[in-house]
Amino acid sequence: MDPIARIKAERQDARDLDDPNADLCFLALSESGKPSVRTLVLRDITADGFTLFINKTSPKWSIIQANNQAEMLIWYTNSQTQYRISGLIEELAPSFIEHNWHRRPTASKYMDYSYASLGSQSSQIDGRDALVGHIDGLKEKHREEELVTPESAAGIVLRPEVIEMLDLNMPHRIHDRRRFVLTDGKWRFTQLMP
Ligand SMILES: Cc1cc2nc3c(=O)[nH]c(=O)nc-3n(C[C@H](O)[C@H](O)[C@H](O)COP(=O)(O)O)c2cc1C
Repeated sequence: MDPIARIKAERQDARDLDDPNADLCFLALSESGKPSVRTLVLRDITADGFTLFINKTSPKWSIIQANNQAEMLIWYTNSQTQYRISGLIEELAPSFIEHNWHRRPTASKYMDYSYASLGSQSSQIDGRDALVGHIDGLKEKHREEELVTPESAAGIVLRPEVIEMLDLNMPHRIHDRRRFVLTDGKWRFTQLMP
């Protein structure tokens, strides 16, 4: 079984069922032994990895630079399957984000601009009104068609090394748990106690 092909198929099933979580994942990072986790949109899944968009002003970017080991969690309600994907994070070429940034929702583009002009992502601000006012100002100053990809917008990819699957949708509630390890370019699995 190719776990990545299976994840892609389950994601498509979730999309077909309008599952609002179909395109989400949870990314865990660790800095000096301190764990942190956040929800992210899972942009793309290929045999080479799991693609995410982030902003380099955010704390997660400095964490990744210090330690690029990560674990991503995906849970598909419909198939009742959990995936824990671990590996190393790499930055994608700027051309990748350049190609995709303009397709982002309008609000996300102005938010990326505000990280440069108001405050880095996750920094303290003077209140929500200050942010709303700032974004209104940005909209007056720059029409959407004139926006250019900010240098801080980044695409990253988690290159999977180990994928652990837990499938709860099995007869007699006896779950199927497997650990897939990428060995010489092929996924090999061992069966685990669920
Ligand atoms: C449904 C959902 C989707 C999100 N997607 C993204 C995303 O694609 N990229 C991103 O940087 N943050 C996304 N976030 C926000 C992150 O969870 C997080 O709050 C933010 O990135 C700041 O995290 P940091 O402290 O690691 O910098 C999303 C949050 C939710 C609830």
